[in-house]
Amino acid sequence: MDFSIDHLGIAVKSLAAAQSIYEKLGLSVSPVETVEQEQVRLVMVQVGDSRLELLEATSEDSTIAKFISKRGEGLHHVCLRVPDLPAAVARLKKDGVRLVSEEIKTGAGGHQYVFVHPASTGGVLLELVQEEE
Ligand code: CO
Repeated sequence: MDFSIDHLGIAVKSLAAAQSIYEKLGLSVSPVETVEQEQVRLVMVQVGDSRLELLEATSEDSTIAKFISKRGEGLHHVCLRVPDLPAAVARLKKDGVRLVSEEIKTGAGGHQYVFVHPASTGGVLLELVQEEE
């Protein structure tokens, strides 16, 4: 078990428009999934052992809508897969690293995740997910 880049999250205005470049390259694009608690629709593009996560807002209040209105479309976050998420989060908190939310959340597929604030990472929103067995 080791760290790896799970995916790169990209904020887009339109999934259909954004995914077509990857389809033209011959990459496989997942069916659209809606994540209610984050107010996004997303597709995953498999790239070798890693993935690109294309994110489209489902509401004006979505963090993705706010990101696009402030900074335009583009790289939104980097996601690392970590072997022991609770231990990693405890270590970061102890060192005063700023997290977006204090507790580990459970995503749509049952995966565990947390976001580290860009203020603590050199300007990149960092998502950490628990390595699945
Ligand atoms: Co993500």
